[in-house]
Amino acid sequence: MSILVTGGAGYIGSHTCIELLEAGYQVVVVDNLCNSSKKSLERVQEITGKELTFYQDDLLDSEALDAIFQRESIDAVIHFAGLKAVGESVQKPLEYYHNNLTGTFILLEKMKKYQVKNFVFSSSATVYGSPKSVPIREDFPLHVTNPYGRTKLILEEVLTDVHTADPAFNVILLRYFNPIGAHRSGRIGENPKGIPNNLLPYITQVAIGKLPKINVFGDDYDTPDGTGVRDYIHVVDLAKGHVKAIEKLKENPGVEIYNLGTGIGYSVLDIIHNFEKACGRKLPYEVTARRPGDIAECYADCSKAKKELGWEAQYTLKDMCEDSWRWQKNNPNGYED
Ligand code: NAD
Ligand code: UFG
Repeated sequence: MSILVTGGAGYIGSHTCIELLEAGYQVVVVDNLCNSSKKSLERVQEITGKELTFYQDDLLDSEALDAIFQRESIDAVIHFAGLKAVGESVQKPLEYYHNNLTGTFILLEKMKKYQVKNFVFSSSATVYGSPKSVPIREDFPLHVTNPYGRTKLILEEVLTDVHTADPAFNVILLRYFNPIGAHRSGRIGENPKGIPNNLLPYITQVAIGKLPKINVFGDDYDTPDGTGVRDYIHVVDLAKGHVKAIEKLKENPGVEIYNLGTGIGYSVLDIIHNFEKACGRKLPYEVTARRPGDIAECYADCSKAKKELGWEAQYTLKDMCEDSWRWQKNNPNGYED
């Protein structure tokens, strides 16, 4: 069975390629490398000892996509490709709508043309906005506050409409919580361009000495230590969730939605202190103002994924911190030499 992985050279995509190859799937990646390096895919092949097929193309290039679907016999698509920086999306809404929405529309048109009926979509816990209570279930109300989040919500609805029009089209919407960590080999990991926006890559760059200190965005939230609480999930657990989703598609499920998290909330200070243990030294931090748009607490109820996909996160916060640190320490400049 052959899986087209869009955005497969990226952080979550490259880890998912490993799990797919190890589960015996053929993998075809399309990625324009706008936020990644093809070295990640070279290392995926080195780690697994298996080959994948890579097309360096943009989803907005309709002819390039035609060529891929004509050449490859695709059975299912996992769609990671997209721009993902919340702050940037507020500054550049049209770029986000064009890349994330139009790119997906072209992909879906090709799937219709070439009769490919199985789709897994990278959605996000961002679609829940500020939840009324935690843990968050899949049936909670949805509310988005920025263009990035809006692309996720719109695409969830578009994919549901496509299923309504063609009930044989199956779609699994995976709402990720906060992926961190890296493959245990230390060969692939998160490789942000410029100064990281997210907590974990920021911490790893402080630990390696590239940034002077961590800014803790607010310590006056209604949480046990006052700092923001999130559901951090090891990227390898997340990747395995995609293999389970591909298996689920074989049952023709129609449209299904699953939270992928651990169900445990950790605070910013929990993360800093666990990372200190992993890297073996104290990390300087300073409490600063809250970051606009941030919520106090967000963690998942993952019982639906456990019951219906047979999937549950295995890795601990200690694993996540140790694996992130191994990747950063062994590759201080990411995929650049
Ligand atoms: P990433 O930036 O590492 O990977 C995305 C990949 O898509 C990159 O390799 C990029 O080059 C590629 N891409 C973007 N636009 C493209 C286009 N038009 N054509 C071809 N390739 C294109 O990001 P990631 O962290 O691996 O995230 C993967 C997906 O998961 C994204 O859709 C993201 O929105 C979603 N997601 C991520 C997180 C997170 O915290 N990392 C959380 C929730 C959801
Ligand atoms: N934080 C800091 N300092 C930093 C960065 C973050 O204190 O330098 C705090 C934030 O205030 C928050 C927590 O660390 O309390 C996590 O922040 P991240 O930026 O790492 O993650 P978010 O939960 O804000 O957002 C992430 C992705 C979104 C996605 C969301 C839910 O960036 O795209 O998870 O999946 F929508």
